[in-house]
Amino acid sequence: MQYNIIALFTALLSVSLLPAGFAADDILIADFEKDTYEPWIVAGEAFGQGPAKGTLPGQMNVEGYRGKGLVNSFFKGDDSTGSLTSPMFRIERKHIAFLIGGGRNPEKLTIELLVDSKVMRSSTGPNDKAGGSEALDIDSWDVSEFAGKSGVIRIVDDAKGGWGHINIDHIVQTDTKPSGSIKDAERVLRASSRYLHIPIKNGAAKRVVTLLVDGQVLVRNDIELADATPDWWATMDLSALQDKTLTLRVDKLSADSQALSSIELSDTLKDAANLYHEPLRGQFHFSPQRGWNNDPNGMVYFNGEYHLFFQHNPYGWGWGNMHWGHAVSKDLVHWEELGDKLLPDAMGPMFSGSAVIDWNNTSGFGKDGKPPMVLIYTAAGNPTVQGIAYSTDGRNFTKYSGNPVLPQITGGNRDPKVLWHEPTKQWVMVLYVELQGKHTIHFFNSPNLRDWKLASITEGIPGSGYLYECPDFFELPVDNNSSEKKWVLLGANTEYAIGTFDGVNFKAEQTKLPGHRGRGFYAPQTFSDIPTSDGRRIQIGWFQTPTPGMSFNQSMTIPLELKLQRTSDGPRLTFTPVKELESLRAKTATFERIEVKPGDRNPLDAINFELLELRAEIEPGEAEEIVFNIRDAMIIYEPLKQEISVNGQRAAAPLRDGKLRLTIYCDRTGLEVFASDGLCYVPMPFNTNADNRRIFFETRGGAAKVEKLQVHELRSAW
Ligand code: FRU
Repeated sequence: MQYNIIALFTALLSVSLLPAGFAADDILIADFEKDTYEPWIVAGEAFGQGPAKGTLPGQMNVEGYRGKGLVNSFFKGDDSTGSLTSPMFRIERKHIAFLIGGGRNPEKLTIELLVDSKVMRSSTGPNDKAGGSEALDIDSWDVSEFAGKSGVIRIVDDAKGGWGHINIDHIVQTDTKPSGSIKDAERVLRASSRYLHIPIKNGAAKRVVTLLVDGQVLVRNDIELADATPDWWATMDLSALQDKTLTLRVDKLSADSQALSSIELSDTLKDAANLYHEPLRGQFHFSPQRGWNNDPNGMVYFNGEYHLFFQHNPYGWGWGNMHWGHAVSKDLVHWEELGDKLLPDAMGPMFSGSAVIDWNNTSGFGKDGKPPMVLIYTAAGNPTVQGIAYSTDGRNFTKYSGNPVLPQITGGNRDPKVLWHEPTKQWVMVLYVELQGKHTIHFFNSPNLRDWKLASITEGIPGSGYLYECPDFFELPVDNNSSEKKWVLLGANTEYAIGTFDGVNFKAEQTKLPGHRGRGFYAPQTFSDIPTSDGRRIQIGWFQTPTPGMSFNQSMTIPLELKLQRTSDGPRLTFTPVKELESLRAKTATFERIEVKPGDRNPLDAINFELLELRAEIEPGEAEEIVFNIRDAMIIYEPLKQEISVNGQRAAAPLRDGKLRLTIYCDRTGLEVFASDGLCYVPMPFNTNADNRRIFFETRGGAAKVEKLQVHELRSAW
């Protein structure tokens, strides 16, 4: 009796663990989970010494196999050949089923069933063009006519060149014909609500999902569709498509997949009540409601609003399907996300770029006396080109019918930053171009944003190498003195050069300088068109904050004000948090004029803030180390070395007027630490533990004088 219960339980368990298409009484022929192919016979090189553990070097990501091992004849690349032959087995079920992927070549890339030494059944892989996918899919043969006979399986790779390999896994005999897959599966629906919800399973095979509107292709995306229970629901905003007939076409779906049937329409997001309260959601850092973000794009101030566009994958937790997402804010603190504005098109996915306001309507895109906002982006297809789009209301955007405005220079040309150069009264585009293996910056001029001509090429900063992708370029006064201005050319990792610019040529005056000193800060941009009455240069970077388990991933840094400050080594950039963030302060704990000796009780013991801003002004005195521990992040200042370390990341942080001035912002996804009046900025992604609100302050080696220490509890911006 007990046995039966255990047997039943085991049977249930194994059924639930089987992938779609396999049954409990299947007979396993091979699962390729061991280190060798034994007792199969190996010939040639293509299959290696034993089963591959997934993807091989130089291969696209192999997915859809079962367990850890599989047959993968990409060993030593596409040109190697060989075969694998099974021992003889008795045919006892109606079907032989297996997972298959790789190249399509019915002659040279096959899995075969031999009966009496003759090939009676044969299948090949799915790919015969560049691109494609390394995903394995189920296939099967009806073998009922051979019942009781002996058979042998042979896997053959006689092919060389592109897609010259085959992948096989999990070969079974089964009485249930596996359902197989459907090509170009479709679902037609009317856009009767604001949102479409698409089920996503992170890591599932990527399907090509085409959206047709009234029969015309609008956009194509590669989506990890969930066949059954999704990890999360991606959102497609249908605001601009109301009442149209939509067709969702999926290149390939297993017959029992629920991906298309489970797609839903509604006027609110799935799990809307939880939006912006998720455990790993930055509470005062912008992040997209759903999907992945990387670089900020098109940062511009217009009609009282800061516009932040961003590299967005609305349909995946990782990078891909680059759209320009869009958000606006009146105060740089509270953001409203407005949906995707640039969608991938026939010229390619929408890579990074910038935005300007064309106040004089040089482009002719203005209307009724309203100046247009113009977005300048990279369409990263083949060729990779630069395009523009415009809007007079900052909400609805039209791609220019004359795109591209700049043809491909090399395949590695991208990330146009455009600005108006007042002295020469023309537009300047600063473009990253990988030229003969070098990272160069190309400058172009235009009278109207539509016609561009090459002005000059900066082949690197004298004596110190190159600046890489996502350039930014702006002029700043030194020490706020408007009669002494310098141009700053900045790359994606915030290394920068300072120099002069005459509208055509940039001349660096010093070697390349380091920007931020932390981790996970990349591809920042500064706002264009901030009114001169304000006059600030405000930067936001991509804050590389992973958020596992969430329906979104990554975020932006807090907005930073950039200045040029004179130092004994020459002018240097400073980064400080914008003053608008002060509006989030809810409660403040203040300590003034206290001396803290080694071994003293932690003065910050009573503080219990989740989100916080800490400001300190400390005379180091005899202290060898001044230590803050914030929710398990360690910030240690060493006055003798004038160095700071944030979670082990060290940076020079000179004392100013003999004092350490420190500002620390702590959100759920990381810290941003500022020292030396902004000369030292250390961003640090870090997933805080919700239950740990401990803040600790101590000195080591000697006493320090705290002139002022303030800890502000911050409100969420959402
Ligand atoms: C930088 C970058 C850019 C490119 C974009 C694509 O992170 O690689 O160079 O335009 O991301 O998403």
